[in-house]
Amino acid sequence: MRYAMIGTGMMGCEHIRNLKAISGCEIVAISDPHQPSREAAASLLPSVRQFSDYREMLAQVELDVVVISTPNHTHLDVLCDVFETGVHVLVEKPLCLTVAQCELAIAQESATHRDGRVVWVGLEYRYMAPTARLLQEIELGTCGDVKMVSIREHRFPFLQKVNNWNRFNKNTGGTLVEKCCHFFDVMQLIAKSQVVRVYASGKQDVNHRDEIYNGERSDILDNAYVIIDYENGVRGMLDLSMFAEGSTNEQEICVVGNQAKIEALITQSIVRIGRRDGWSLGVKEVVVEQPEDVVPGFHSGASFLEHVAMQRAIREGTKSEVTLQDGLRAVAVGQAAHLSIAEARPVDISELFR
Ligand SMILES: NC(=O)c1ccc[n+]([C@@H]2O[C@H](COP(=O)([O-])OP(=O)(O)OC[C@H]3O[C@@H](n4cnc5c(N)ncnc54)[C@H](O)[C@@H]3O)[C@@H](O)[C@H]2O)c1
Repeated sequence: MRYAMIGTGMMGCEHIRNLKAISGCEIVAISDPHQPSREAAASLLPSVRQFSDYREMLAQVELDVVVISTPNHTHLDVLCDVFETGVHVLVEKPLCLTVAQCELAIAQESATHRDGRVVWVGLEYRYMAPTARLLQEIELGTCGDVKMVSIREHRFPFLQKVNNWNRFNKNTGGTLVEKCCHFFDVMQLIAKSQVVRVYASGKQDVNHRDEIYNGERSDILDNAYVIIDYENGVRGMLDLSMFAEGSTNEQEICVVGNQAKIEALITQSIVRIGRRDGWSLGVKEVVVEQPEDVVPGFHSGASFLEHVAMQRAIREGTKSEVTLQDGLRAVAVGQAAHLSIAEARPVDISELFR
């Protein structure tokens, strides 16, 4: 499979390292307008063709798969151009900035649809070993009927990005879209239902408050609580702090059903299962790890596994496991949460789809 990369910053280079470790594929071209990013990628791929404009690359190079790892506000335009070419596509999360933009991307995919084309959204947290194990337990019915899903992300502040694009809501869609779409995707898989309503409280309290770029002050939120009601009565909650370096786990997922509680502790790579009927016997604790041949990268091997799964789908002609609709739903919850914060009210998700 002949791959090309659009955007070779931090995430683009993670994809390159993954793909280099997978047999049966080759990265033949890269594109990025930022020379240091191109040089970083070329140092991993010495004989690769380089372009500063991805449209020239799409016009000149024979390709099978394109990976889009550009800033969020560029995803819609890049996707629309890539869809025209008919190649398979992996687009980084968030799919786009807003529901309206995601709908435009989906419409463009339909307008240029090719049978067998795999379009995959990079919501790879589902492939982290503890998360995958938790999802497996939910499928096995270990929890019984799931009632509550909470995800706590307590971590370090946003990293520095090329031209500081991630310091502004207008480029990211807001922290609850940019970062937390991962968690809304995982919650959706656990709740197995559609979101009805979102209530949120959040603010930029600590990070980046004094950072000014081209006369504009950074405006990104760094902590929030988000509560989600699902159609089937499941309740979800996100607890986000981006000034919590002093945490044992970066993410902790907790699911409670009518039969058991399951926790996935991401950094410690532990899953805990506590059954209601056997509580006096204690909570079972399992250490879960990725297989040794998985490239860990910055995401505990999850972005490597997403490529393996995507290539399987392409070869076997099966459907994408992380679809444009999944990308849209995850963005919708983040957008609704930002609206809830801005207007201090619950937001019915249908408001975003008018
Ligand atoms: N899946 C994950 O867990 C994860 C983690 C980090 C970032 N991301 C996503 O990956 C994307 C990139 O983030 P990053 O951290 O690599 O940022 P980055 O700033 O490190 O890299 C972005 C690169 O895109 C380039 N770029 C900008 N416009 C371009 C264009 N028109 N054509 C080609 N290249 C262009 C920039 O010059 C830069 O080199 C974002 O959408 C981000 O949300 C996903």
